[in-house]
Amino acid sequence: MSEQIKSKQRVSDHGEVFTRPEEVNAMLNLVKNETIRVDSRFLEPACGDGNFLLEILKRKLEVIAKTLAKSQKEFEFQSVIAIASLYGIELLQDNVETCRTRLFNLLAEKYNLIFSRNISNEYAEIIKFILEKNIILGDALKMTFVETNWPIVFSQWSPVNQPRKWSIKRHDYEYQYLIAQSGSPYKSVQQYFSCYFMDIKNAQPIN
Ligand SMILES: C[S@@+](CC[C@H](N)C(=O)[O-])C[C@H]1O[C@@H](n2cnc3c(N)ncnc32)[C@H](O)[C@@H]1O
Repeated sequence: MSEQIKSKQRVSDHGEVFTRPEEVNAMLNLVKNETIRVDSRFLEPACGDGNFLLEILKRKLEVIAKTLAKSQKEFEFQSVIAIASLYGIELLQDNVETCRTRLFNLLAEKYNLIFSRNISNEYAEIIKFILEKNIILGDALKMTFVETNWPIVFSQWSPVNQPRKWSIKRHDYEYQYLIAQSGSPYKSVQQYFSCYFMDIKNAQPIN
């Protein structure tokens, strides 16, 4: 089998053929400026094991490392913004897990390279929390989660300066209304109080 195909069965059942790096890069270069803007959001509705998302993260981390990260804390914050800007929907559980792992490992390796140390457990938990919310096991056509059949909900993560520097605001929206062509208003599901980025797992819902 080539690296693009895991099995003939999966190709026939799910159309699973992965895109080669050359093609991923050529396509991303069409929107190059967006791929190097740390907070620009990308959603891949059939993300497989993350070939596009991985390359986008690679580009964003390069920018962070070269220009934005004046300190370890700043690198951590900007990297959270970069990870939180990437969204994926994938029908197969193993692909979802591989996609999350590849994104996590890329960040962990970059961190290790720059600071000559492993990321802390606390920071790793934050990254994993965001990846679980953003890279989801879902059916992009039905716009539902595979396990529950409930409508897919995505979190919008935004950097804010309240209650203190390096805080993040989370706001959840139902996916089907985000992409509706008919002018339907976005359907807000839940807003959370903004908090320091290392506390986002404990952010409390507003109302
Ligand atoms: C052609 S592959 C592309 C994977 C990846 N985007 C890439 O370019 O390497 C299509 C992927 O979509 C997934 N898929 C198929 N039907 C889907 C659906 N209804 N919702 C979400 N993902 C789906 C398959 O499991 C497969 O991983």
